Parts: sequence; structure tokens; C-alpha cells
Amino acid sequence: MSLIRRLGGDDGVAALVEQLSVRVKADPVMGPYFRDVDEEALNRRRAMFLSALLGGSQSYTGKTLPEAHGPFRLGDREFDAFLRVMRETLEAAELSILDRQSVLRRLSRLRTDIVSRGVSVAPGTAVFGGPHTQD
Ligand code: HEM
Repeated sequence: MSLIRRLGGDDGVAALVEQLSVRVKADPVMGPYFRDVDEEALNRRRAMFLSALLGGSQSYTGKTLPEAHGPFRLGDREFDAFLRVMRETLEAAELSILDRQSVLRRLSRLRTDIVSRGVSVAPGTAVFGGPHTQD
């Protein structure tokens, strides 16, 4: 049986998105970004996106991820919060550990589409070349 079937097909994905959105809104890092967002419309697009990503029957017709997220100037902190909340949502859904990992792996590859504020670096790190830079 395929991953999408084990997730319960498109209906299962939609249910997962509902649960995800409750956790996202309650999350201190992400919640504030969703204050003025039409949640029903957003959840339809999230479900469409996830169905397409995970081999379901839908194709995604929304904005590209960089178009949708660029204006918020999100950083790694926000993206990591998203992955954490998604992991908690998947755990509550009683999927096998392997299925949870497949979903998270596919989502984690999207980091560069979402993050536009740049990576955070440890204080003191030479970001634009230090003494060891060749060029
Ligand atoms: C892999 C991670 C993520 C995926 C797959 C994802 C997916 C999506 C999708 C499909 C949309 C709808 C785009 C459209 O309107 O056509 C959306 C919108 C949005 N996302 Fe994400 N997202 C991710 C991470 C994040 C994070 C980390 C944040 C902020 C903490 C965030 C904040 C938003 C907001 C605020 C909108 C709504 C924009 C609006 O309707 O005005 N997303 N996201």
C-alpha cells in the first residue's frame, strides 16, 4: 500500500492539515503570522499542496512557496518550528515511524523555498569570508 493510501488518501491529508493548523496557530513562533489569514482557504491550499507532494490525486494550483512566504521574511527558526509542529501532528495521527519520517523528509527539503531571511550563524562566525577565504 502506498504512503498516500496509508495516510488515508486526500481525506486523510485534509484531516491532517486541520490538526496541523490548530497546532500552528497555538505555536508561539508561528501563531502570529496567521492572525489575519483566511484559514479555510489556506487549509484547502495546504491540503492540495500536501496531496500533490505525497503522491495523492490533487495537483497544486496555488502560489509558489517562495511567492507565498517571501513577503514574511521567514528564517530557519520559523521553518524549524513548522517541522516540529508537523512532527507532533504526525505523531498524534498514529502513523508508523517510517511514514512519519517520509513525510518530514519531503517537507524538510523545502527549506530554501520558505526561508528568505537567511541562515542564522553562531556569533563571531565570519559570514563574508575571513582570513581563510581564497577569493
Ligand atoms: C514546508 C513548510 C511549509 C509549507 C509546505 C507551506 C505551505 C503553504 C501553502 C501551500 C500556502 C498557500 C499558498 C497560497 O496562498 O496559494 C501557504 C501559505 C502561508 N504560509 Fe506556509 N508553508 C510552510 C511553512 C510555513 C512557515 C514556517 C510559515 C510561518 C511561520 C508559514 C506561513 C504561511 C502564511 C502566513 C501563509 C498565508 C499567506 C496568506 O494567505 O496570506 N508557512 N503555506
